[in-house]
Amino acid sequence: MSRLTPPKKEELDPIEIASRDEITDLQTKRLAWTLSHAYENVPLFKDRFDTAGVHPSDFKSLEDLAKMPFCYKQDLRENYPFGMFAVPRKDIVRLHASSGTTGRATVVGYTKDDIDNWADLVARSIRASGGRSEHMVHITYGYGLFTGGLGAHYGAERLGCAVVPMSGGQTERQVQIIQDFQPDIIMVTPSYMMALSEEFQRQGIDPRTSSLKAGIFGAEPWSEAMRGQIESTFDIDALDIYGLSEVMGPGVANECLETKDGLTVWEDHFYPEIIDPETGAILPDGEKGELVFTTLTKEAFPVIRYRTGDLTRLLPGTARSMRRIEKITGRVDDMLIIRGVNLFPNHVEDLVVATEGLSPHYVLEVRREGIMDELTVRVERDPENPGDASVAAHLQKRIKGVLGVSAKVELCDPGDIERSVGKAKRVIDHRNL
Ligand code: DLL
Repeated sequence: MSRLTPPKKEELDPIEIASRDEITDLQTKRLAWTLSHAYENVPLFKDRFDTAGVHPSDFKSLEDLAKMPFCYKQDLRENYPFGMFAVPRKDIVRLHASSGTTGRATVVGYTKDDIDNWADLVARSIRASGGRSEHMVHITYGYGLFTGGLGAHYGAERLGCAVVPMSGGQTERQVQIIQDFQPDIIMVTPSYMMALSEEFQRQGIDPRTSSLKAGIFGAEPWSEAMRGQIESTFDIDALDIYGLSEVMGPGVANECLETKDGLTVWEDHFYPEIIDPETGAILPDGEKGELVFTTLTKEAFPVIRYRTGDLTRLLPGTARSMRRIEKITGRVDDMLIIRGVNLFPNHVEDLVVATEGLSPHYVLEVRREGIMDELTVRVERDPENPGDASVAAHLQKRIKGVLGVSAKVELCDPGDIERSVGKAKRVIDHRNL
């Protein structure tokens, strides 16, 4: 199957390839607006700025942002539902919410212009992935309060694509619709893409023969090894899309097809920083830490220095002038500490996917035994190529050798690990149950 081609220069928004000076000027102007807009209209920001002894007028250049206080997910929870909106209710045209695995839901709102910018940025993201108006886009992100479905939908429509609004679930039907409608692009979580690949096989269809040419995957961490697995299973290009509801939704950053080297942050709408999650100090580009965003154009729900909890590095632009983020390693709170070694599910995924005889369906279970935390990696045998018991020992050895962690590996039968429809649950922590 042929692949999509990257956009030509003349197809891009001029700002995507503007000089760094132009980008900096725009960011400075937009940041000044956002700081006063947030300060004047959101009591939380006014209080926090006043307490920190800073004022939006202290902001003269990008470096001054470091003086401004952070905001956190907890702030959204405490202001549930609409306490952080910066415009009157009559100007809100859309609400989204995330249920949150712990605590209260967080709610975000959008004005008409916010929705318009969001559609533009998702359109830009799909274009960066090789999408054009003549393409059909099959959307499997959930529609509803989750930003994935509607966010992807408005962007694909904005680009002029034909949109198939499937939403998540109905796995058998997903495959049938893909076979019948022949879409070029799929937008779905990487874990559900693997569930779709099984369904193709169950129906006796080789996924490589499907019409799909590219997939735009996000909403959860996924490893480079998983990219390789998806690309070879479906014979497509697999691109990474990042976003979060507090900042907008999908389309805050997206990979470019010509380089596939991390995600370009759409820096004309979001200002990224990387900080040390412990101390809050800003880290230089290239160093790994927690990603922090300040929105530059959001009217209904501006955020100033929002702590995403996501770990990555900022890298210089390649295919665009805007900076990139490296593939997200995981969330600060997803990090496991096993006998003193820090570990992310993604790191284990890399090794699972690379091990012959295993399928990419896995889950990590953590238990406390005595004073020690014990890790068990449960992983399904590959039904096509099941291998023997030595596969478990091999993976165990690799985990010890590469990650420095002693883990038990438990092989199980195909279908034993629960399949996700949206975001996969990769860790079962029996210590908190
Ligand atoms: O997951 C928005 C989204 C939808 C992004 C569809 C991409 C595609 P939330 O439900 O608010 O929003 O969850 C946001 O998901 O802070 C990350 O921890 C994680 N996440 C999102 N995209 C990626 C990605 C949507 N590409 C949280 N890689 C974020 C790794 C991701 N993690």
